[in-house]
Amino acid sequence: MHTRETHATIERIRHLSKDLQRIDLGLDKDLARLKPGQSLLARPGQGWEPYLAENWIPVALDRHIVTVERPAGVSYLPGQAVTLLGPVGAPFPMRPGMRSLLLMALDTPPTPLILLTSLAVHLKIGVTLVLGGRAREYPIKALPPEVEVVEGDLEQGWPNQVTTVGWADQVIAVANPRYRHQVYPALLEKLRQLRADIPKRFVLGLFDLPMPCGVGACGGCGVACKDGEDRLVCLNGPALDLEEVNFG
Ligand code: FES
Repeated sequence: MHTRETHATIERIRHLSKDLQRIDLGLDKDLARLKPGQSLLARPGQGWEPYLAENWIPVALDRHIVTVERPAGVSYLPGQAVTLLGPVGAPFPMRPGMRSLLLMALDTPPTPLILLTSLAVHLKIGVTLVLGGRAREYPIKALPPEVEVVEGDLEQGWPNQVTTVGWADQVIAVANPRYRHQVYPALLEKLRQLRADIPKRFVLGLFDLPMPCGVGACGGCGVACKDGEDRLVCLNGPALDLEEVNFG
C-alpha cells in the first residue's frame, strides 16, 4: 500500500478518559488495512491547517472505520472532514515464532501499542503490558481482557519481571519523548541484567517524532544509528531496534 493523500470524515467521537478520546474515521477500504506501527498524518483544519500534520495512531480497525486515539483537550465534530496522508511508517518488525510479547509504556499513554495487543490476542500470543508513570492513568478497560496489565517502571521493576523478560520473544516499548534518550538506554541495560542474550530486533523502541513530509523527502524525522545512517521514522519507524540506535 503506497502512501497517499485522502479525505475522511469523523463519524463518531467517544470520551475514553479525562485525557483521551477516541475518534471513528470513515475511510476507504485500502487505508483501513493499516498494520500495527503504521499511522496517518492528519490535518483536521481547513487547507494546510495545522501546518505540521498530527500523527493519528489507529487503535482499532473495522472494515471502513479506523479508530484513532487523541488527546481529550482538542475539539472535533462528527461530520468534520479531515485530510489524511497515509499509511505512514512501517509495520512493527515482529520476530518470527512469537508466543509471548512484553509491551511497555513508560510515562506516556500506550496508544501506539493498542492495535498490536488486539492482533496479538487474536493470534493467541501472550501479552504482558507494563504501565509506568503517566501510563498508569490509561483506562485498562479499553484493552482486550486477555492482556495481562501490570504496573511498574525501570527503577522499581514490575511483578514477575524476571519471568516476563525471560519468556518474552520480543519487547516493544514506548517512552515519554522528553526522556526517551535516557529511558531507552536504561531499558536496554535493565534487559541485559535480566537475560543473557538480546537477539536482533528483540527490543524495539518507538520514536514518535514530528514528521513534516511523511514520505521520506525532508529528512526531518531522522534517528541517528550506530552504523552512521539515519533511520527515517516516516519510512522505517516508528519502531527501531534499540541496539542499533546511537544514543550518543
Ligand atoms: S517526515 Fe520527512 S523524511 Fe520523514
